Amino acid sequence: MLLRTSGNDLAMTVIKINAITVPADSGDELAKRFAARAGAVDNQEGFEGFELLEPTDDRLTWLVITRWRDEESFDAWVSSPAFAHGHRSEAPKQEGGDAKPPVGVSSELWSYQVAGGSNPPL
Ligand code: HEM
Repeated sequence: MLLRTSGNDLAMTVIKINAITVPADSGDELAKRFAARAGAVDNQEGFEGFELLEPTDDRLTWLVITRWRDEESFDAWVSSPAFAHGHRSEAPKQEGGDAKPPVGVSSELWSYQVAGGSNPPL
């Protein structure tokens, strides 16, 4: 598991968080859409995993925490047809398709690296 690695591996991992704010009653739909795409990014070079985090207080912002080997891997995925395909909810509609409009009202990309931490023994 990534966060149990040490030394250079740990230092190199980059964490990209997409913070998606949804209308109060739309969280379930967002979770459903993510579930429908589970596995879609698993084989991407440099991808180390992601979690979709649902707020358990009254916040409306969900977090997509993604982990990557390095910046280049993340940039390559965001520029790839696979990313465009998985995030195409609006475009096909304009082209006469039947894609649903996006659930989110706004989103923000946050960029982090691990700067410290610890784990209980295995
Ligand atoms: C940090 C990396 C990511 C970025 C920058 C990103 C970007 C976005 C953006 C801008 C939206 C639109 C939010 C809105 O509706 O306002 C979105 C929604 C979404 N993303 Fe991502 N995303 C990322 C990671 C992922 C991953 C790993 C998956 C799953 C394989 C995923 C699947 C989805 C789904 C299912 C939606 C909801 C689309 C909808 O409302 O129909 N995203 N993402």
